[in-house]
Amino acid sequence: MSTNNTFKLDDFEINRIGFGAMRTTTGAGIWGDTPNKENAIKVIRAAIENGVNFIDTADSYGPYTSELLVQEAIRPFKDEVMVATKGGAVKYKPGAIMANGHPYYLRTALEGSLNRLQRDVIDLYFLHRVDPNIPIEESVGALAEFQKEGKIKHIGISNVTVEQFERAQTVAKIDAVQNAFNYNDRRYEHVVNKTTRENIAFIAHTPVARNNWNETALAKARQKKISVNQLSLAWLLQFAPNVISIPGTSSLAHLQENLASGTIDFQINTY
Ligand SMILES: NC(=O)c1ccc[n+]([C@@H]2O[C@H](COP(=O)([O-])OP(=O)(O)OC[C@H]3O[C@@H](n4cnc5c(N)ncnc54)[C@H](OP(=O)(O)O)[C@@H]3O)[C@@H](O)[C@H]2O)c1
Repeated sequence: MSTNNTFKLDDFEINRIGFGAMRTTTGAGIWGDTPNKENAIKVIRAAIENGVNFIDTADSYGPYTSELLVQEAIRPFKDEVMVATKGGAVKYKPGAIMANGHPYYLRTALEGSLNRLQRDVIDLYFLHRVDPNIPIEESVGALAEFQKEGKIKHIGISNVTVEQFERAQTVAKIDAVQNAFNYNDRRYEHVVNKTTRENIAFIAHTPVARNNWNETALAKARQKKISVNQLSLAWLLQFAPNVISIPGTSSLAHLQENLASGTIDFQINTY
């Protein structure tokens, strides 16, 4: 990855192609253990050896199995990798999740994540979802408390609108926002633009799944021997300098392909 493909979060330079540990580390429906633990660890370690230094997980992936596996995979590289995890969403059966943004619940979620990741401090902790029954100021206010206690270094919010984002900023310094964003899904473009203006990290989830490109872009990509997934990741890198994508994969070949999109040199933002 080229060095322009980094985003500085305080003193940590994040490579803008990270790794999403949702699917590889869990079973179908993001439920249970990974079907192939040895492979998942191999892929995560290969990602780090090839420059990835940002890994995204959550207590609800599994639940818990993703955090446990990430902890095991990164053990040899501990300080070289920023680990982001999330709390505030309860996985209660395969494919089903429910928000819980109550401060007391968030505290138990955070303590569980600290334990599973074997850390004293979480590098970046996200409120996974906004609980419709709890004002976002209360949920993010709890995260601000945890930060004061030294248990969280950076605070993030996920799956938010601009309005929720602004309300969260009244109670804490928000260092990262994580929403779905890709070539086909631009529902949150206003959120991305706000993070860009304010130089806040924007973590694009679901960066390669569900991307349908137009024929002009595909033809040009074919000519340049660029795959559709590379096109999607390069589009995100070119969208704005604060956008970090977190493709997840269980395949070493796909990993190499994804990382190579950091060196693609054709201008695709206009497609
Ligand atoms: N905050 C939230 O609410 C939220 C929601 C969803 C996701 N996320 C985060 O975002 C991360 C990524 O999201 P995601 O897993 O939904 O979507 P994604 O990364 O866009 O897509 C992953 C899927 O694409 C395949 N893939 C990856 N690279 C490929 C390539 N080069 N060629 C062909 N197929 C490829 C993977 O299969 P193979 O294993 O076969 O490569 C996998 O099935 C998650 O791991 C999670 O950390 C967050």
